[in-house]
Amino acid sequence: MPLPQVIVMATGKGGAGKSALTRSLAAHFLATKQNPAIVDADPQASIASLHDADGPMGKIPVIADPEAETVQASIEDLVAKHRPVLVDTAGFRNQTTIMAAIRADLVVIPLKPSAEDIREAVAMYELVGELNQIPERKGNPIQVVMVMTMTTPGTVIVRQIRKELEEKGFPLLEAEMTQRVVYPELSMRGLAPSVVDPESAAARDIAKIAMEIVKRGGAHEQVHAA
Ligand SMILES: Nc1ncnc2c1ncn2[C@@H]1O[C@H](COP(=O)(O)OP(=O)(O)OP(=O)(O)O)[C@@H](O)[C@H]1O
Ligand SMILES: [Mg+2]
Repeated sequence: MPLPQVIVMATGKGGAGKSALTRSLAAHFLATKQNPAIVDADPQASIASLHDADGPMGKIPVIADPEAETVQASIEDLVAKHRPVLVDTAGFRNQTTIMAAIRADLVVIPLKPSAEDIREAVAMYELVGELNQIPERKGNPIQVVMVMTMTTPGTVIVRQIRKELEEKGFPLLEAEMTQRVVYPELSMRGLAPSVVDPESAAARDIAKIAMEIVKRGGAHEQVHAA
């Protein structure tokens, strides 16, 4: 299954784990000898501002572009030489995220185990469904998956949310981005688990997420109404 070319992390809920997931997937694809790049499309520039060009993730190009008018061109610049191009977006609904999603092969929607996160994740899923109706995407639908973040595995709340989302037919990944202190610790240095300790539990979580993304993001899973 081919690696999706453009992967956009998106949800209108702030703090759901978009930036941590973007950085972690970039680290994973670098560590596994792919050639990733990042577009930081969040006006807060949380990835671009902490990126260390001399550090272990320095080889990954990062373009900061929060503008709806130019974000697709920024993605295009990187697509010429990089795969995957990972796009981090703002923690609120905006036009830049929509433009990035229109250019995506795959939209990844992260959600914490909370009611607000679920609501915004469903809204983003439905938005992708609408975008798939525009002429540009007819016959070439944007794929979409949801992934649970900051979970404590085996807890009742996580099980309940998983059951609910799966029963409603949402494409929820099996793998979860478990709650681990290593993410905020490493993010302060602009880093992520796979380049620091590829054998760590966090790096293994991310590897599982990446594997499922490749598997499901390559398949033509149709977005349907909830
Ligand atoms: N799996 C995790 N375990 C523990 N902490 C995490 C995890 N994922 C993210 N975090 C931390 O939670 C906070 C929010 O995550 P992050 O910044 O990635 O969310 P975001 O969706 O990008 O937020 P925003 O909408 O503000 O851009 C950060 O401090 C981050 O380091
Ligand atoms: Mg962010």
